[in-house]
Amino acid sequence: MRRPSPPPFLLPFLLLLAATSPSATHGFNITKILATHPDFSTFNHYLTATHLASEINRRQTITVLAIDNAAMSPLLAKHLSLPTLKNVLSLHVLVDYYGAKKLHQITHGTALASSLFQATGAAPGTSGFVNITDHRAGLVSFAATSDDSSAPLPPSSSFVKSLNEQPYNLSIIQISKPLSSPEAEAPAAAPAPVNLTDLMTRKGCALFAGLLSADADTLKTFTESAEGGLTVFCPIDPAVKAFLPVYKNLTADGKASLLLYHGYPVYSSLQGLKSNNGVVTTLATDGGAKKNYNFTVQDDGEKVTLETGVSTATITSTLIDQDPVAVYEVDKVLQPLELFKPEETEAPEPAPAKSKNKKGKQVAETPVDSPDAAPADLTADDNAASGTRFVFAGGVAAVLLAVVVIA
Ligand SMILES: *[C@@H]1O[C@H](CO)[C@@H](O)[C@H](O)[C@H]1NC(C)=O
Ligand SMILES: *[C@@H]1O[C@H](CO)[C@@H](O)[C@H](O)[C@H]1NC(C)=O
Ligand SMILES: *[C@@H]1O[C@H](CO)[C@@H](O)[C@H](O)[C@H]1NC(C)=O
Ligand SMILES: *[C@@H]1O[C@H](CO)[C@@H](O)[C@H](O)[C@H]1NC(C)=O
Ligand SMILES: *[C@@H]1O[C@H](CO)[C@@H](O)[C@H](O)[C@H]1NC(C)=O
Ligand SMILES: *[C@@H]1O[C@H](CO)[C@@H](O)[C@H](O)[C@H]1NC(C)=O
Repeated sequence: MRRPSPPPFLLPFLLLLAATSPSATHGFNITKILATHPDFSTFNHYLTATHLASEINRRQTITVLAIDNAAMSPLLAKHLSLPTLKNVLSLHVLVDYYGAKKLHQITHGTALASSLFQATGAAPGTSGFVNITDHRAGLVSFAATSDDSSAPLPPSSSFVKSLNEQPYNLSIIQISKPLSSPEAEAPAAAPAPVNLTDLMTRKGCALFAGLLSADADTLKTFTESAEGGLTVFCPIDPAVKAFLPVYKNLTADGKASLLLYHGYPVYSSLQGLKSNNGVVTTLATDGGAKKNYNFTVQDDGEKVTLETGVSTATITSTLIDQDPVAVYEVDKVLQPLELFKPEETEAPEPAPAKSKNKKGKQVAETPVDSPDAAPADLTADDNAASGTRFVFAGGVAAVLLAVVVIA
């Protein structure tokens, strides 16, 4: 049963939802595709280890110059650091589509293709391009450009075969040898870690960032997890503001668990969340006995929701998606079953009139801002969280609208 049309005060929110719908819906997974070619397992492994795999999956038009396990050995024998290896491997990812056919029909016999090393701004000067040459005999060779003209020309690599072509989105072709250049092999520093609280403060989750900053141990758990992979769901400021009285009433342990509940200790792109719906554990999850602190990720094609069993939050925007860290903004505070009572009835389809009245009444009588309410009482009308904040801004008329929204 759908409500007729969204009340005007919800429009900005709905527009925001529309604006932040992910563009990366073409949905290829380079890791999965290469997994069907066991000869390329080493190359595939390092695409994941260097986080290039997620960078590739995010792109719409891409060519991957894959190296088989035997040809990877000389590269690995150089014992490059992971950030340096990432630069070298990113030479093997061209930000344009080159299928076997196009390679053998290059106009004037040579083309200069931009690699991910060049396209991401990591390559100095004129390095980071791949010179593709279509020789007369049908041989196609590849060589990385260097900024240093005195550097010896790198041995060129040649086209072996096509592994997978999805014109004009993704092409994976095998080349004989790894590409390299002095610039790509120069020692590279690991990227500076993302400052989570700073990022959230600047992008609409300042109150949540403030709560995290006030709890040094919890903040440390978040920052340490961020090194190995972390997805954070930060509730928008109005949602946290309405929730503060309840938060303040939690014990110190309860507060820490609530904050930790907003961290999923695995990096996940929005596409990844969509394709791996299901129960996820959180930073608050205690391997031991009863502390599950899990929630369920769902999507209806467009929206991604997080169902805690107490409330359902929706992802409204992406603050950062940079493997190994992703931060998404959500419209509600996530309330774990371990700390809050579930709503009596979710009744997603035809809502019984009785429950409608009851919830409506609670909105009027037990405003979320009331400092007197105990957490368990409040959770009953958590559905109202996004609507409720308008109640106090808009007065009695808005109360009636909020009731409509909840129903
Ligand atoms: C690309 O390589 C070919 C030979 O393989 C060479 O003639 C040409 O000058 C190179 N182009 C660039 C821009 O390096
Ligand atoms: C390429 O991507 C577009 C969307 O960006 C999609 O509509 C199309 O089906 C894709 N083509 C292939 C061959 O996967
Ligand atoms: C993160 O940024 C905040 C300022 O927004 C600063 O106070 C804090 O020290 C920074 N944390 C780290 C680990 O750099
Ligand atoms: C891609 O596939 C791999 C292996 O099948 C899987 O582990 C990974 O989660 C997938 N990534 C996404 C973004 O779905
Ligand atoms: C998630 O948590 C609930 C409640 O604590 C528990 O009953 C359930 O078994 C957990 N599910 C998984 C898959 O861990
Ligand atoms: C805090 O919890 C106690 C005990 O559950 C309750 O009596 C009190 O009303 C609550 N206060 C607030 C501000 O929620």
